[in-house]
Amino acid sequence: MTDQATTEKTMHKGLAGVVVDYTAVSKVNPETNSLLYRGYPVQELAAKCTFEEVAYLLWHGELPNEQQLAEFETLERSLRGLDDNVKRVIDDLPLTAHPMDIVRTAVSVIGANDPDTADSSPEANLTKSIALLAKLPSIVAYDQRRRRGEDLVEPREDLGYSANFLHMTFGDVPSLVAVNAFDISMILYAEHSFNASTFAARVITSTLADLYSAVVGAIGALKGPLHGGANEAVMHIFEEIDSADDVEKWLDDALAEKRKIMGFGHRVYKNGDSRVPTMSAVLDSLIDLYDAPELGAKYRALQSAMAERKNIKPNLDYPSGPTYHLIGFDTETFTPLFVASRIAGWTAHIMEQLASNSLIRPLSEYNGPDERHTP
Ligand code: COA
Repeated sequence: MTDQATTEKTMHKGLAGVVVDYTAVSKVNPETNSLLYRGYPVQELAAKCTFEEVAYLLWHGELPNEQQLAEFETLERSLRGLDDNVKRVIDDLPLTAHPMDIVRTAVSVIGANDPDTADSSPEANLTKSIALLAKLPSIVAYDQRRRRGEDLVEPREDLGYSANFLHMTFGDVPSLVAVNAFDISMILYAEHSFNASTFAARVITSTLADLYSAVVGAIGALKGPLHGGANEAVMHIFEEIDSADDVEKWLDDALAEKRKIMGFGHRVYKNGDSRVPTMSAVLDSLIDLYDAPELGAKYRALQSAMAERKNIKPNLDYPSGPTYHLIGFDTETFTPLFVASRIAGWTAHIMEQLASNSLIRPLSEYNGPDERHTP
């Protein structure tokens, strides 16, 4: 067998199809088009649980009973405020920076200020995970407000996670339909096995670096448009297209230019993303609530044109982008919303990685110049 043939046999570009470890956090099954968090179908969790219950499930492996939930909610609500030094760092960052850069920097500052950063015991890491989950809405909401020239809104301990998130962003609590829509999006984004950002977090954790370093790396990975950045890219598409009648021409031109259509396709799901039907139903309810039939028409037209032209189905970012737009978030804030949710999954994986660690260090096949020597 030639060297070339050996290389072709063992090369797994993009790690496609490679199984690198066990996980008990979630199961993505493309054959049955299903997604389980700790064994529970995500659609069921979205219908029956709050985001707080789902975060608890991802960390502990079981849903909380009434008392466990009450204790967890009390703790989470008490940790929502931002220290002055975090606010000062955010204030000093330019408005030209992308909100993902603000979130990434703020998490780094929180880590640098935590005297327990180096303590990677399961107890310390759980405490850090809850604190990050509690504080990320404050960071994301504050950054959107300062971009709009508005002052910070302090968190309210009498509100659940999603109602408080929207209160801190918009200064009031929107309708129950909007709060539920947002909560469902947080549940659907919370976890998705070994996606790029989670894998990045696990790689960093495998070196025994601290949890904050792993989360900062994960935020960097999520920013890319092939991953989390797709939800905001979807909204830019809807801004580019004037009306549903223009969708087919827009798509033909985009495909002729070999553009990737954001919000479509998936590395693992090839017959549709298990989370899309739930999120699309939520988007429909908001299209009614906010009376936005034009957006609904463009959404449906692009989905069917993509199916017809390429037979490629939408992923979760396709319905979530317009959902966040209708709730009132600025487009650049969409991926930070994904961070606020996925922190639950990332930190569950960080703790799982540490519990059974092995340094992640793959091999590469050298294809540079043969050995040579300086003149
Ligand atoms: N728009 C247009 N064509 C697409 C496409 C998209 N969104 N997604 C996949 N394809 C096409 C590719 O061009 C390729 O066609 P080819 O074989 O003729 O070259 C084929 O489908 C396979 O795509 P590939 O990029 O190799 O698959 P992948 O598994 O590496 O990519 C994604 C998965 C997610 C990176 C890819 O679908 C994509 O870029 N989607 C848009 C970004 C996005 O929405 N990301 C969020 C993911 S949850």
